[in-house]
Amino acid sequence: MIYSRITGTGSYLPGPAIDNASLIAARGLDSSDEWIVERTGIRTRHLVGEGVTGSDLAAEACRRALAASGRAADDVDLIIVATSTPDYVFPSTAALLQDKLGIRNGAPAFDLQAVCSGFAYALAVADKFIRSGSHKCALVVGSEVFSRILDWNDRGTCVLFGDGAGAVVLEASETAGILATALHADGRHQGILSVPGHVSGGVAIGDPFLRMDGPAVFKFAVRVLADVADEVLVAAGMKAADIDWLIPHQANVRILQSTAKKLGLPIEKCIVTVERHGNTSAASIPLALDEAVRAGKIVPGQRLLLEGVGGGFTWGAALLVF
Ligand code: UT7
Repeated sequence: MIYSRITGTGSYLPGPAIDNASLIAARGLDSSDEWIVERTGIRTRHLVGEGVTGSDLAAEACRRALAASGRAADDVDLIIVATSTPDYVFPSTAALLQDKLGIRNGAPAFDLQAVCSGFAYALAVADKFIRSGSHKCALVVGSEVFSRILDWNDRGTCVLFGDGAGAVVLEASETAGILATALHADGRHQGILSVPGHVSGGVAIGDPFLRMDGPAVFKFAVRVLADVADEVLVAAGMKAADIDWLIPHQANVRILQSTAKKLGLPIEKCIVTVERHGNTSAASIPLALDEAVRAGKIVPGQRLLLEGVGGGFTWGAALLVF
């Protein structure tokens, strides 16, 4: 039986951490550190400088993941980048990343767009490629520059997000790695979180910024994160108590607390990075995973439950042995 298994993790955050007070002052926002911390748990985030793109962040994260796995760039035979903030409409960020990493073996490379569920989706897709036997060594990446699609006059959204990238090397293995995945979408909820326009050649067409009904998203997220966690636990024949670490998409610390509570897990079993990264959309899960691995919290053999929810609406989870 072929499994897919994570053999290396890496991440990258651009620039210095920007705290709430500095962001509020720099952008002239009618907000406060107290409000942001109390409602979201967010204290700092990282934002890209001019000219830096998602493929730049992804390349750094991938170099670190490859080094951790002991793989060379040309060992990679599949590249999937989860992103909603690609460098261009096309070519894909994944193709640009392939070039930046110097991968010259013709490995397929494509972007996957499922917003904040993007990494859960990309991991599930790569798992299926590897289990089929067609590919052996995948780079699965989440990379975002949400600062480029924020309306800096909308205090209800602009304080929530950050930029960053995370990556894993996913390899074919005879020992169990990914045990179960589940993916879902329901397009009826498209209106509560969307970017209803775009920028083309520097010209805004429609409304090119992120728009969100925060309370509606909050309620939806808590419900589907609990459901999809149960779904992968049942599929793997496990209980929540069998999980060593829960790594949810990092949007709001109150969502993380509710999700852990619904699963009956103490918050200590939940990896929390949202206070330092903000919401980095598709990058948040691999960023949190990599930080916890490098901090020595997550060690090989532990059971992890990764789950995400985002615009579309989309949601998904993966249960795995690290
Ligand atoms: O990654 C995709 C998933 N995204 C999420 O999961 C986000 C989910 N939603 C949330 O995290 C929360 O709904 C928010 C953090 C976005 C908002 O928190 P909330 O507790 O739901 O607040 P609210 O939107 O109901 O707003 C409460 C008040 C409003 O003022 P009034 O109408 O009561 O006078 C807002 O205008 O807070 C006001 N407000 C702010 N005040 C200071 C909104 N943003 C700010 C702000 N600073 N930055």
